[in-house]
Amino acid sequence: MLPYTYHVIITDLCYTGSLNMQGDDMTQPQLDTIECNDAKEYLVRIPDNSVHCIVTSPPYFNLRDYGVAGQIGLEQTPDRYVDKLALVFSEALRVLRPDGLCFVNIGDTYGRGTRGKYVNDSLRGTGGHSGIDYPVSPVLPNKQLLGIPWRLALGLQASGWILRSDIIWHKSVPRPERVKDRCTVDHEYVLMFSKSEHYWSDVPHSLRTVWQLDTVSTKGHSAAYPPELVERCIKMGCPEGGTVLDMFAGTGTTGKVARDLGRHYLLNDLNPDYVHLVRVGLQAPYIPLVYDTGEIQLNLFEAG
Ligand SMILES: C[S@@+](CC[C@H](N)C(=O)[O-])C[C@H]1O[C@@H](n2cnc3c(N)ncnc32)[C@H](O)[C@@H]1O
Repeated sequence: MLPYTYHVIITDLCYTGSLNMQGDDMTQPQLDTIECNDAKEYLVRIPDNSVHCIVTSPPYFNLRDYGVAGQIGLEQTPDRYVDKLALVFSEALRVLRPDGLCFVNIGDTYGRGTRGKYVNDSLRGTGGHSGIDYPVSPVLPNKQLLGIPWRLALGLQASGWILRSDIIWHKSVPRPERVKDRCTVDHEYVLMFSKSEHYWSDVPHSLRTVWQLDTVSTKGHSAAYPPELVERCIKMGCPEGGTVLDMFAGTGTTGKVARDLGRHYLLNDLNPDYVHLVRVGLQAPYIPLVYDTGEIQLNLFEAG
């Protein structure tokens, strides 16, 4: 397929761009919208080499149940988890322009041995909790730090990505942990990948590999990353007017920051409740919104 560029005629949420793909595939995602799909199914509809930058945070391994069938993150072993993400990111590699960059925020998980209270196989991906103790990773004993960010980094390297940087997001105020036999975790990773040796970038000289940033509190979605983290990535990896992709959009932080920085966005998440809220939130960006679904309560974009 030929290199593809979106042409936006009307911005805001109304897109009437020309689709100069062969085959005139009207199902491809439109600029400045959010869709509700499995990440890989969403990505296959995006043309080759069409996105300037990816800023995303996939579901972490065995930490949260997002309550939707087909969710990633509740696999039985780290290897299965990385394999699944590698398939998603292979599609992401295809849609990224050769001069593009990809930033992946990812945290680690401790093995729970046979003590993890997680869903059993029949419930995995449906959001149901069995309450049955489940061996999260039988080969990795309880309390083992699983090294998920490193496994993911190596897995994506093996599938063609060039790992350019392992940035540490140092959380100024870490989540409290009741542990006395190891240090409290106060960091996550932002893995920076490129598709080629040479790429578009605008990295300030003063920027180092440890970023000290506050966490954000977004009710109902404990996994939102701070807008400033996204801002740094977008400024480093996407020219003005370019397109930023997030196939695991959650509360839509990537979209909001991209829009505010004069970039276009392509957003997707599997959870329809989040998608609905992001749609509403992006139309009324500066009005704090509280939406209560019982289980999920979000206050989108309260940082303004
Ligand atoms: C770590 S959160 C992203 C948070 C986001 N960066 C933010 O700032 O709000 C991961 C998201 O992936 C979504 N997700 C889980 N499995 C998915 C799948 N198979 N395809 C697409 N999205 C999925 C979850 O619903 C969740 O919102």
